[in-house]
Amino acid sequence: MNLGTGQNSDIADPVIGDRSGAAFLREKKVVPGGSMRAASWFQPHPPYAARGEGCWVVDIDGRRLLDCANNFFSLIHGHAFEPVLDAVRAAMVKGTAFGMPTESEILLAEMLAARSPRMEQTRFCNSGTEAVLAAIKGARGITGRERIAKFEGCYHGAYDWVEVSLDPTPANWNDKNGDPASVRCNAGTPDSVLRETVVLPYDDPQRCAEILRREGGSLAAVIVDPHASRAGTVPISMETAAVVQEACRRDGIMLIADEVISFRLSYEGASPLFGLEPDLMTTAKIIGGGLPIGSVSGPADRMSVFDHSAGKPKVSMGGTFSANPLSMAAGLASLAHYSRAAVDQMNALGDRLRAELRQGFAKAGVAATVTGMGSLFRLHVGPGAVTGYRSAFANADTAKLLRRIHLAMLDENVLLTPNCSGALSTPMNEAEVLLIADKLIHVVEREFGARPDAAA
Ligand SMILES: Cc1ncc(COP(=O)(O)O)c(C=O)c1O
Repeated sequence: MNLGTGQNSDIADPVIGDRSGAAFLREKKVVPGGSMRAASWFQPHPPYAARGEGCWVVDIDGRRLLDCANNFFSLIHGHAFEPVLDAVRAAMVKGTAFGMPTESEILLAEMLAARSPRMEQTRFCNSGTEAVLAAIKGARGITGRERIAKFEGCYHGAYDWVEVSLDPTPANWNDKNGDPASVRCNAGTPDSVLRETVVLPYDDPQRCAEILRREGGSLAAVIVDPHASRAGTVPISMETAAVVQEACRRDGIMLIADEVISFRLSYEGASPLFGLEPDLMTTAKIIGGGLPIGSVSGPADRMSVFDHSAGKPKVSMGGTFSANPLSMAAGLASLAHYSRAAVDQMNALGDRLRAELRQGFAKAGVAATVTGMGSLFRLHVGPGAVTGYRSAFANADTAKLLRRIHLAMLDENVLLTPNCSGALSTPMNEAEVLLIADKLIHVVEREFGARPDAAA
């Protein structure tokens, strides 16, 4: 169905069935933009999901797609994973929510504590955004300071302070000293929020150290994603990680590791891979087994900022559905099956995928590359290495080429996220990895062939 692609009318519409087309027209009437989520939307519109089976998702027109989006990397075991379904069914028939604690929240907090010494105590909430905002409030409560630092281009959810400099452009990304500027992402964000947010470069440890030396004394927290998904899908360098860790220790700043996605990189999470010892850690996505979840964890002396047992806490944290028993049950089943062996297997498959893609792009002679670690990957087009937000930044031409590749992959029955990133899930094996590599190499070669100048 061709619904007209408006400003992107040079991009061929993918095969999107009539039922999805009709659903979109209905949704547009009652939902702004015809979509609940900007991140998962693309022109002309996504197909609508009907059901999932392992690493496959079936749309309402009956089309079967190999799912590398996995609900934005939250489904480590793919769709309808039997142990998760069994656990949720068993929990559901006992009641879906209580104004009382349940034992399942203890079990999941214990499971996290057993995985990482940095997760001695945990509070659960319902999303990564909520976890990040609670961790930042916690850091402010602990330090008595208001400002935070974050890395340019890094996504930490929809909280005003962490949205600063989420998407700056070459026209506005430097301040007058050549440091990353604090750039407004949403209309109406107060100037005070910009002043309260220091922006750091992900791939320039020296400049990062200078900024932290200058600003450190006023910071409550530095929030860092050890493997920045939005800002290039690249790991932090050991040098930058060391700079951050040292500044936090020196100036009494709370180091918040935002592992909402990167927790999957090792059994203990991503921080230890980079020598980071966070004061507070946020996770979400895979720890909920496909149901809504978020968590803030840390050593007991840090987490005591949320302790209300002796009266009003320094910082309150909690909500109607915090630690809801269905998410707890799904998370327990999901993590129980994400063992050390499963993590290793997924990471090895990811290495294989990236190696296949690099070889294929080199053989085809196209200026494309793949970044990522463990089971995460992302395609970039254009020359040069990608080390952070600025080197990953897509100009109008490369953005258009990536959109074409994303749509062409959909035509090949492979679902990537709209920025051409993806994640593997445990139901995938070598066969699926080779299929993804084969299709992506073929599509990239064809799209470059169609527009040889596009990413030169
Ligand atoms: C690193 C990071 N932090 C926070 C969030 C926000 O999580 P949620 O979408 O569950 O609010 C995300 C979402 O993708 C994320 O990648």
